[in-house]
Amino acid sequence: MRVLVSGGAGYIGSHTVLALVAAGHDVIVVDDFSNSKPSVQGRLEALAGRAIPFHGFDLTDADKTERLFAHERIDAVIHFAGFKAVGESVTKPLEYYRNNLDSTFALAASMAKYGVTKLVFSSSATVYGEKAPVPYREDYEHLSSSSPYGQTKVMIERVLSDIAQISEGWKVALLRYFNPVGAHPSGDIGEDPQGIPNNLMPFIAQVAVGRRERLTVFGDDYPTADGTAERDYLHVTDLAAGHVAALEHLDDMVEPARAFNLGTGTGTSVLELLKAFERAVGRELPYEIGPRRAGDLPAFWADPTRANTELGWHATKTIDDMCADTWRWQSRNPEGFPGS
Ligand code: WQD
Repeated sequence: MRVLVSGGAGYIGSHTVLALVAAGHDVIVVDDFSNSKPSVQGRLEALAGRAIPFHGFDLTDADKTERLFAHERIDAVIHFAGFKAVGESVTKPLEYYRNNLDSTFALAASMAKYGVTKLVFSSSATVYGEKAPVPYREDYEHLSSSSPYGQTKVMIERVLSDIAQISEGWKVALLRYFNPVGAHPSGDIGEDPQGIPNNLMPFIAQVAVGRRERLTVFGDDYPTADGTAERDYLHVTDLAAGHVAALEHLDDMVEPARAFNLGTGTGTSVLELLKAFERAVGRELPYEIGPRRAGDLPAFWADPTRANTELGWHATKTIDDMCADTWRWQSRNPEGFPGS
């Protein structure tokens, strides 16, 4: 299939572009580079061994989005593009709602106009909110999120589900990610957060490469085995494979829209991840214990049964794989991708 990947220059999008090409699909990327760099294209083309067309514009521009569909044959869309910083979304709610929703509206309108009926959407475990029983299951009905970022995911899942219900032939997979980490084993692409990393793994990686002085562990008084919070970390190449599996499953999907958890089903604590990274680097890394971060939950992980059984998808990589691959990327690219 010829697949439009929105946000394809980003962390998960770039890894999914490689997985799509490896699976024999054609890819075109649209990205506004608001949270990624144009140099990703060269790295992807070198790894893919072929040209990968990039279109550099903001999907909230409905005219440019429609022109892309008018000029390019598109069989399916994988929609990653969107603002994703939880903390930032609390301080800039209107920007998050406008950007994440308007880009989705523009895409969906162009898909409807040009008869594109296959869509995979990048959702998040954050939609389960703070009360869902762990492990999280897709049939949990009280979706909500405490941040505007998470609320955009809840809303977009609903918008796309409603469109799919009344649109002939539409099939939409809503992929709920747990905690994506790691990097392509080549070390040539990886996570390159702009500014101070919000997320644990890139922060540890930047401590290890000397860009940050030490890790602050946000609380060690949680009701967990070692007192630090537990999450379901998933290797980004496993996550990318989940997108290909979902895309290729759409024709067989009975429901017009269906959610799938992409996670390992296992929780790992902050200190356990830190120790695994130290094994990858071969030395201890400096850290201190700080106060809990507002909004953090003690522990959650996926029930991945639906993706396992319906998509035939399973996470394959270990925590040590995730740390070794992250370290290879970070040590070879201490400042991330070149350019601005
Ligand atoms: C993991 C654990 C922190 C940084 C977020 C988003 C979620 C999704 C994935 C988009 C927590 C602790 C972190 C640090 C720390 N993103 N931590 N020191 O919060 O589970 O999920 O990213 O979809 O929507 O909410 O991931 O990596 O930020 O934190 O101790 O410097 O590491 O408290 O327990 P999180 P995270």
